[in-house]
Amino acid sequence: MEAPDDPFEQRLFLEAELYRSTSVAERERQVYAPHFWHPVAALSSLPEGSALALQLLDLPLLLTHPPGGPPRAFLNRCPHRGVALLPGAEAAQACRRLICPYHGWTYDLDGSLRAAAREAEFVTPFAREDWPLLELACALRGSVIWVAIGPDPLPLEHQLDLVEQELGEGLERPRVLLASLEGDLACNWKIAHDNTLDDYHVAIAHPNTLHRQQGPVRHYRHRFGDHTNLLATPVPVQGSGADPQKPEFLTFGAPPWIHLLAWPDGRLALISFPPRELGRCRLQVWLLGDPAQQAGGAAWIEELRCFLEEDRALVESAQRGYASDLRPGPAHRLERRILHQQALYARIMGLEPPCPAHA
Ligand code: FES
Ligand SMILES: [Fe+2]
Repeated sequence: MEAPDDPFEQRLFLEAELYRSTSVAERERQVYAPHFWHPVAALSSLPEGSALALQLLDLPLLLTHPPGGPPRAFLNRCPHRGVALLPGAEAAQACRRLICPYHGWTYDLDGSLRAAAREAEFVTPFAREDWPLLELACALRGSVIWVAIGPDPLPLEHQLDLVEQELGEGLERPRVLLASLEGDLACNWKIAHDNTLDDYHVAIAHPNTLHRQQGPVRHYRHRFGDHTNLLATPVPVQGSGADPQKPEFLTFGAPPWIHLLAWPDGRLALISFPPRELGRCRLQVWLLGDPAQQAGGAAWIEELRCFLEEDRALVESAQRGYASDLRPGPAHRLERRILHQQALYARIMGLEPPCPAHA
């Protein structure tokens, strides 16, 4: 039976072939990833007057934060002969300007070329303003820096539609990075994304971790936006100072491979699964909150790590299943958040949505 409240047409999971095809992975890189914005760092990780080199998919990125201005994003590539201006690092580096280690071209943090060595001796006419760093679109949302790698990304407020609607101004309350988690998963990114959208497995696979946080299935509230979906679960009210608004724990799934968890006390966790090679992805978790919540950071990230480790065994096992001749079975109504994101994926990738006629 089809769920009568299905807000979208897809009824079947994507074919396993899409999870193991190199040409599909290439199209994801060419078409799917450039359609969206990507969270690249917490704003608090990039203080004014600093720069940070990191990798976004196959792109070397350079984030800078010019004093008094917003963060900026550039390709970490000197326009002269292509050398990286800064080595990749865990933490941002305080700097007033960027000096290329090859021939010493020097850039301001806004990406403009400030000086080149022996500037009068180029063999063709030389003007500094012709040689800025190549800039990428950069935005701030939820105290996180987002970067677009394509020329015409979906507006970020559309990508995060339900997040913005549900959190309202709460999304923009200032937050700092309380703790983070970084790792690798031996599965295609879609398996990790599907799994984190899967509300069917939580009671079975996470009885003592996430299920305790989300509570009984009968209390689940789902919403589906154009790009983001939501599972809201009530948080047990403690003490007499209870929030009369019936506080909820919100779990959003969003493209391209992002999940956002929001607690009533203002904490946010951003989980993402950027692809690596075909059968691998990264696991990236940032826990953000008020600076006054810093003391709780280690314990809260440990809670996240526990259920994500439970998921690791499952997604890495599902990867082996998808690598075989699997035809995925029927979708349960508690798996509709997966279907919702898969329908969006199919649309952006220009695929026929799977339907019973094609099964
Ligand atoms: S490559 Fe950077 S100055 Fe030459
Ligand atoms: Fe899980």
